[in-house]
Amino acid sequence: MFTSRIAGIGHHVPDRIVTNDDLSQLMDTSDDWITERTGIKERRFFDHTQDTVGNMGAKAAKMALERANLKTSDVEFIVFATITSDYYFPGSGVLLQRELGLEGIGAMDIKNACSGFIYATSVADQFIKTGMYKTILVVGAEIQSTALDLSDRGRSTAVIFGDGAGAIVLQRSEEKNKGVLSSHLHADGRFAEELYVKDPGSSRPHEERQADVITKTSGFKVHMNGNLVFKHAIVKFHEVILEALEANNSSINDIDLLIPHQANLRISSYIQDKLGLTDEKVYNNIMHYGNTTAASIPIAMSEAWQEGKIKEGTLLCIAAFGSGFTWASALIRF
Ligand code: UT7
Repeated sequence: MFTSRIAGIGHHVPDRIVTNDDLSQLMDTSDDWITERTGIKERRFFDHTQDTVGNMGAKAAKMALERANLKTSDVEFIVFATITSDYYFPGSGVLLQRELGLEGIGAMDIKNACSGFIYATSVADQFIKTGMYKTILVVGAEIQSTALDLSDRGRSTAVIFGDGAGAIVLQRSEEKNKGVLSSHLHADGRFAEELYVKDPGSSRPHEERQADVITKTSGFKVHMNGNLVFKHAIVKFHEVILEALEANNSSINDIDLLIPHQANLRISSYIQDKLGLTDEKVYNNIMHYGNTTAASIPIAMSEAWQEGKIKEGTLLCIAAFGSGFTWASALIRF
């Protein structure tokens, strides 16, 4: 039986920093409100002249490959998590494949929002464990700033989201009790419309053709029932972390580092307190990037690795909750 180890981690964020004060020039909000309610101080917005979801993902992937001492040509498959693909179709996985010059290898997109990166890791893990591939790129990347309503009307969602990309290289190993130990995936579609972008959706009357809908104000905009999402998030994060521990006969004290999806610092703090973890054991960088959806966990993993918080032997737990609703966790031994 093979295991899949994380051979390298990388990330890339756009250069443009947008502070809370910058947003308060555009809408009725303030640095105090955003900091107190979310912990966010700044986020990155892409530059349309140079950044795409595919090429930011490729930059993160190249960093991950370099850190893994692997060549691009070693990659056999790509799993790309994003809800903001460059085109409505095809997905951005094929664009990243083109950027890397890997014509011919398989590439798939996963559209599971904040849980997308964990779902993608789990898919790649299964391909490796069954022996189908030896080296897989798992990428999470988003450009969300184009879907934000940067006016007073959109202030409750616009202030929390940002752009960025993160990647890991998963590689076949035969070392037992190392790598992705388990992953746990959940969804509850009854809540699909509590956090969603409705258009361009396909199931519309013919008179509401996509081309027309997208030009109207109701077009490509995020709708989020923030309070409800928050309430479900704090319950499901906790449950799915405990599920991962139980599946591995581990206790909370065994975890060296928890990286929760960076949705809101208040959610992370609540989970930390509930689990009784010290500050050193929970990694947060939402202050700098906001919520980058599928990119948030790999960006945080990459920075944690750079800071020496992930090293040989580290037991890492990653967990996420978001649109769908979907939620997920994984336990990883480095
Ligand atoms: O990763 C995907 C999953 N998403 C999440 O996990 C998000 C979960 N939810 C949240 O993080 C929070 O619900 C938000 C940060 C989105 C909102 O925080 P909140 O503490 O739930 O605020 P609220 O929506 O209850 O709004 C409180 C007040 C309202 O005013 P009134 O009605 O009390 O007068 C809002 O109109 O704050 C007002 N408000 C703002 N004020 C200044 C809402 N947005 C803003 C803003 N600036 N940007």
